[in-house]
Amino acid sequence: MCVTLLPVFSGEKGDHGDEGLAGPVGPQGQAGSCPESCQIFIGPLGVQGPPGPAGIRGLPGTMGNQGLSGSKGDKGDMGLPGKPGLGGLKGEQGKQGVCNCTNGVDGINGQKGVKGDTGNKGNAGLQGVQGPVGLTGEQGDMGLLGLPGPCSSSIQSAFSACLETPFPLNNKPVPFTKVLYNRQDHFNSMMGIYIAPTNGTYVFTFSFAVKDKVLVVGLFQNFYPVFKMTETTNLATCSQRVVLHLLARDMVWIQVKDLNSNGMYTDVEITSTFSGFLLQPDSCDLPFFRDFGQMSLNNTNFPNFTNLKWNP
Ligand SMILES: *[C@@H]1O[C@H](CO)[C@@H](O)[C@H](O)[C@H]1NC(C)=O
Repeated sequence: MCVTLLPVFSGEKGDHGDEGLAGPVGPQGQAGSCPESCQIFIGPLGVQGPPGPAGIRGLPGTMGNQGLSGSKGDKGDMGLPGKPGLGGLKGEQGKQGVCNCTNGVDGINGQKGVKGDTGNKGNAGLQGVQGPVGLTGEQGDMGLLGLPGPCSSSIQSAFSACLETPFPLNNKPVPFTKVLYNRQDHFNSMMGIYIAPTNGTYVFTFSFAVKDKVLVVGLFQNFYPVFKMTETTNLATCSQRVVLHLLARDMVWIQVKDLNSNGMYTDVEITSTFSGFLLQPDSCDLPFFRDFGQMSLNNTNFPNFTNLKWNP
């Protein structure tokens, strides 16, 4: 009996199956004839009958033991191509290629790159333009009482006077008899001499018309010329302004050089003036001489004002 084997592997040959069932009863034999005696006679063995027909197929035998491995088969056909592998690592950048072409066509604009990191903080910019003036603030609280201010002197002194007679004499102070201002009477207009009432800073100015003659004139302090001026142009003006420090009782006047250079002029339409004033006393204390009249030029303590020299 055959045993059906699995198609893929050829195992070992299985065991012999069980005996099949007995075949069917054969045909009835020929009627016998009695023997000449009834003695039991054992005849010879009959000829063996023909084999009976084949029995029906038996049940499948039990599975045989696994067969031995078959011999190695022939090399199979080449398989189908495998799936593509994963992408490899990025290779190193190649050398820059040499290009001999010129004037190539511009390529297409690349895609916009990723936004970079924030840059470092820049240097401080220049100072901006000053802004507009702000609104006026509210009035603040009243401040503390301040320190006492500088003293104010009670003494005042100023004068201004005009020449009345042209071409003054040269050997004495020039008188300015037309007085414009001399409230403190510190200027003796008839003699043309100003007497400082206190130690302090004084301002003197003059403006002299010049006509027909040269004018050489000086401003004198206590018989010495502080400065001199010369004006040679006819119908010109000679003027000056100075600041002097004087001590109390110092004397200041105007004097011309000589009779050839005394061109100081005056008439109805032309004026020559001499002025001065106390700008700032050295101290706010009153002078010790309360009565300025004691400083009168008639006082015998004062020198003679005639025959004065131009260059003492
Ligand atoms: C004026 O100045 C003189 C000289 O410096 C000084 O001797 C005199 O005391 C001063 N007079 C006054 C009133 O300050």
